[in-house]
Amino acid sequence: MEKSYALITGASQGIGLAIAHELAARGVSLLLVALPDVHLEQSCAELKRKYPHIDVQALPADLTREEDIRAVAERCYREQWRLRYLINNASMGFTGPYESYSYEFYEKVLHLNVMATARLTRLLLPLLRDHTPAYILNMASMAAYFQMPYKVLYSSSKAFVYHFSLALREELRGSGVSVTVVCPGGVLTNPDVRRTIERLGRLGAAFSLEPQQVARSAVRAMLQGKSEHVPGFWVAMYARLRHLFPKGWIRRALGWVFRRKFAEKTYKRA
Ligand SMILES: NC(=O)c1ccc[n+]([C@@H]2O[C@H](COP(=O)([O-])OP(=O)(O)OC[C@H]3O[C@@H](n4cnc5c(N)ncnc54)[C@H](OP(=O)(O)O)[C@@H]3O)[C@@H](O)[C@H]2O)c1
Repeated sequence: MEKSYALITGASQGIGLAIAHELAARGVSLLLVALPDVHLEQSCAELKRKYPHIDVQALPADLTREEDIRAVAERCYREQWRLRYLINNASMGFTGPYESYSYEFYEKVLHLNVMATARLTRLLLPLLRDHTPAYILNMASMAAYFQMPYKVLYSSSKAFVYHFSLALREELRGSGVSVTVVCPGGVLTNPDVRRTIERLGRLGAAFSLEPQQVARSAVRAMLQGKSEHVPGFWVAMYARLRHLFPKGWIRRALGWVFRRKFAEKTYKRA
């Protein structure tokens, strides 16, 4: 039987790597996209060792660069990979007062969190349409549901991913390509995220999951063709409860929590 492929961005670490393991265990071959560094090489070697029956390819790329995105897509067409899964997962997360990060940093964030998802999806959609049933999984965040002070550009970029996914899903109804958006709460991945979750104390601990838990339930939701998925029982409950409160209250409450937890002087300009 011909191999089916999943292209996963941000696949060298964290949730992206955990999703790679989930799909590999289901016999799906992998196209791992991440920055060209040692993490990508190590993760690729680890997956090849653990799942010798599938094909694993590393596609090093800086997804903030348009030319790298085009090169990734062109390679997929050239190699005639049977692409059935597109996982738009890579993004940059950060916390701090809006003015503590530079204009240049924000441009990179928008290129990675917003443009890379829109561009890759546009470039690879014809290939997915050729290999239906096919699936797109876009990694948003609980932050997509809120207007978050101290995470201003991050939460706004995730709101883009959320709306983009659900609108495209509707447009693709009946095409054989299903779109799922995943909105996790805190996930214990890179040291920055771990530090932020620790700073939030008991609140952070109650709402955080391991990347493997998120990957397992996200892949399941994608294969079930769900539109939207929040991993973790308590996080999902919290996400539902948000409808009970006025948005202005939630904004102020979030501002209060972050203002107390993150003294402005602890942030350096990026
Ligand atoms: N962790 C959380 O608490 C949390 C919560 C909600 C949503 N999410 C979302 O889940 C997704 C994954 O988060 P994570 O915490 O697992 O991330 P992570 O551990 O920081 O890993 C980020 C991945 O993205 C890659 N990457 C970073 N910049 C890139 C670029 N310019 N071009 C290509 N690849 C790049 C990294 O590659 P290198 O290894 O080469 O740097 C790495 O593979 C993100 O969309 C995030 O917003 C995370």
